[in-house]
Amino acid sequence: MIFLNNEFIEKNQAHISVMDRGFLFGDGVYEIIPVYNNKIFHLNAHLLRLQASLDSVKIKNPYNLKEWYNILSKLLGFYDNKEQSIYLQISRGVSDKRKYSFNDLTPTVYIESNPLLTKTKQALKAGFSAITQPDIRWHRCDIKSTSLLANVMYLQQAKEKNVEEIILYRDNQVTEGATSNVFIIKNNTLFTHPTSAHILSGITRDLVLKSARACHIPIKETSFSMNELNIADELWISSSTREIMPITKVDGKLINRGNIGNIWNCIYDYYQSLKN
Ligand code: PDD
Repeated sequence: MIFLNNEFIEKNQAHISVMDRGFLFGDGVYEIIPVYNNKIFHLNAHLLRLQASLDSVKIKNPYNLKEWYNILSKLLGFYDNKEQSIYLQISRGVSDKRKYSFNDLTPTVYIESNPLLTKTKQALKAGFSAITQPDIRWHRCDIKSTSLLANVMYLQQAKEKNVEEIILYRDNQVTEGATSNVFIIKNNTLFTHPTSAHILSGITRDLVLKSARACHIPIKETSFSMNELNIADELWISSSTREIMPITKVDGKLINRGNIGNIWNCIYDYYQSLKN
């Protein structure tokens, strides 16, 4: 089952117009929200970010918090798996002709949910590879927009190169991953790019920072250079679907001689405890 414009229907029965601006222009925003043990994880934070994305592109939020909660809860009721990843997208809606500018339209709301297959701690401890690429995206990466062509190209490259993620840099400073936020540890201090128009402010990023405080790790929300990335003591990426994933190889070179760091261990454990 999926949710489309106020209806719960089978996915193969769901249709949208070719004049939907989400289809024509990628004119829409989205959220991905994890569900653990049938409980939506940090729903309010996701809905606040959704509101910020909608406000930035002048799309009206079709539902209030309670309505969102009721829709998502009802949708989850159709699934057996207790760990889910909700995909929610709102496009500007259907217009009568293809025109860049817009009038007030009724937004198209599409929601589906899929089993969330998080990796075990043991599997994460194997470490993952990434490569770096210049950040060619626009200067509003804070908007969780469905216009994702650059990210699509990056992820295809990751697949072809058999790596987990593409780490992006602008003016020699690491911004984020193509689908994640990036963190390094140097001299027992956590560094991550500050929230700005150059990164998406990850909900998991916030929880990593919360976990770091609980682990008594000093935090610097300042950007770091490509060189600092290469000589980091630890390197992780975070997202709602990947949680906190250690990266032990970048551009073919080992980070921390390929070892998983102790700080990741503490942060990972604390993050897991937040699910309860
Ligand atoms: N991506 N930065 C980018 C560019 C992202 O696409 C994502 C998430 C994040 C992390 O945000 P969060 O912690 O709120 O998931 C950062 C989702 C999972 C995706 O598009 O698949």
